[in-house]
Amino acid sequence: MKQKQKKPDAKKPSSSEQQPRNVSPAVDGVSGLTSLQKGMKESLDGARFRWINELLYKSDSSEAVRMMKEDPAVFNDYHSGFRHQVQSWPSNPVSHYISQLSSYPQNTVIADLGCGDAALARGLSSKKLKVLSFDLVSDGAYIVAADICSSVPLPGSEPSSSQKSEGEAQVVDVVVCALSLMGTNWPQCIREAWRILKPGGELKIAEVASRFSDVDEFVSLISSTGFKMKTKDDHNSHFTLFEFKKVPRTTKTNKEWSEVMSKGDILKPCEYKRR
Ligand SMILES: C[S@@+](CC[C@H](N)C(=O)[O-])C[C@H]1O[C@@H](n2cnc3c(N)ncnc32)[C@H](O)[C@@H]1O
Repeated sequence: MKQKQKKPDAKKPSSSEQQPRNVSPAVDGVSGLTSLQKGMKESLDGARFRWINELLYKSDSSEAVRMMKEDPAVFNDYHSGFRHQVQSWPSNPVSHYISQLSSYPQNTVIADLGCGDAALARGLSSKKLKVLSFDLVSDGAYIVAADICSSVPLPGSEPSSSQKSEGEAQVVDVVVCALSLMGTNWPQCIREAWRILKPGGELKIAEVASRFSDVDEFVSLISSTGFKMKTKDDHNSHFTLFEFKKVPRTTKTNKEWSEVMSKGDILKPCEYKRR
């Protein structure tokens, strides 16, 4: 008797087909993206961060103001990239300032020029200090929108004669510039810091170490606008900290100011490598 040959069942998968197959790549439960898509998104975000960063360092602040007005999302995109970079640093200047300023007397008024996401004001919110935070875009809560290299919306004046003076500011005790001297016209921010500081007020500057080709030249420029350096701390591998005190100075002519302002290239732009 002829045995009937068993035909492979068209509907039933063969044993090899019964093995679990990775039909679709694993999807991340939080972002809803596959690992390939996540990798592509990260490199696009990184490229966008580096593009915004370069523009902020290589143009006048008026260009930064224009860019943020046209597309305020740029501010958040920049800050999520910046936070990502800072995570890899051993420490960051804002944490240093939070712990240092925590012990300042009650009611000290601090102006944070180029505050980013206002980490300083948030970090000091439980202390009896007053932190006024300024940056290119407001968050509607902590941050006042202002171009710190043009005019900080706080009172204060410059000397009006050849007689040395400290102007007439009466509000701000401390100015903080943490990694915020970005536009090519950054010396104008130092001029504003002097204008708004009370007599004898403190200017704290933190800058990325790799931006300096000659630290003495930097200190000499700041000093020429009416400050005396108290301390310089370059122990950190990533940034250098400076403390200046406001001192009396005479008025400057427009020509003298143009000369100061033309020295913005003392600080090199800060360039981040591809992640
Ligand atoms: C590198 S981030 C540092 C932010 C913050 N100080 C910190 O340390 O976390 C520099 C900040 O300075 C701001 N900035 C630079 N130039 C500015 C300008 N002309 N006016 C206002 N903000 C400025 C940028 O928008 C950015 O938020």
